[in-house]
Amino acid sequence: MGHIISTCMEFAFDRPSSVSTPPDQEESKSVFAIGESIEEILYLHHVVFKHFWGRNYVSPVVLSNEDETKPKQVLDLGCATGMWTVDMASILPTTNFIGVNPFAIFPKSAPSNVSFCRQNVLDGLQFDDNSFDLIHERLSLSDFTKKQWEEIVIQEIVRVCKPGGWIEFVESDACIWNKGRVLRRIGHSCKKLFLARGLVPNLGQFLQVLLRSHPQLTDVHYVENDIPLGKKHGKFGELAVRNLMLSWYAIKIPLSQTMGIAPEHFEAILEAFVSEVNVQDLYWKTYRVFARKKTQDEMNEYL
Ligand SMILES: C[S@@+](CC[C@H](N)C(=O)[O-])C[C@H]1O[C@@H](n2cnc3c(N)ncnc32)[C@H](O)[C@@H]1O
Repeated sequence: MGHIISTCMEFAFDRPSSVSTPPDQEESKSVFAIGESIEEILYLHHVVFKHFWGRNYVSPVVLSNEDETKPKQVLDLGCATGMWTVDMASILPTTNFIGVNPFAIFPKSAPSNVSFCRQNVLDGLQFDDNSFDLIHERLSLSDFTKKQWEEIVIQEIVRVCKPGGWIEFVESDACIWNKGRVLRRIGHSCKKLFLARGLVPNLGQFLQVLLRSHPQLTDVHYVENDIPLGKKHGKFGELAVRNLMLSWYAIKIPLSQTMGIAPEHFEAILEAFVSEVNVQDLYWKTYRVFARKKTQDEMNEYL
């Protein structure tokens, strides 16, 4: 790991407990090479997003249930190390959580109301229709092409969601338009890289249109949250900077190529970003897109 990445933080924080199995790089189609920092990137995403959003989900779904014989069911699609899944399961002990991911980087221990299994949504989810009260998917920006989102991912999510249940996406766009010259350069290159791979750099806009045009969905919402970057915003502002830098570092080879620089010069870009963060008010645009699956009555009205 490079100098700028290893020295930019002045304080320690708790690392996640280690995961069960090393990820199989062959199975990842993401622009991200799964490297040594993936656990930390995912951990930082969780703590930074939870801090600045103040909650783990925003859909108006009731998940707690006094009647433990009928626990609510929640799916965390693309759960990776299960940070969100385990956190949620600890907060809601009478709700059942299932985390799925194509390769097993699941935590070694978890509360009894969580299970994890290997599944690839592109092969179809191995769940019955109408199974879940909430389906959560976070940071899948780099995982699916436009065609995969339209033809498989959304269709599978809607299929396994219960009528009246909610689906929620938590994302940030590849391109972070902002004041900073360096941040704009990185954002522009990420956008180019994503487009070249058939991915959707402006996922927020795209998901809204996709959900609004889906005949089985209603109550589509889009909520933005600008995460302030840098030391002047305290520990979490600084963690957000580290989170972004590690994420870009994980794609430094293709990103350097797109920027037209040698990979060994990529650290200079990150250093320039840190300097920029210290003198300008920069932020990281994150958002949630969420929608409700229509009830049978609502579907009958539609037909
Ligand atoms: C950036 S990570 C986000 C992980 C987690 N949602 C979080 O917020 O901590 C994206 C995850 O989606 C998973 N993923 C990629 N392609 C997938 C697929 N076809 N089906 C299910 N999950 C997939 C990846 O393996 C990875 O764990």
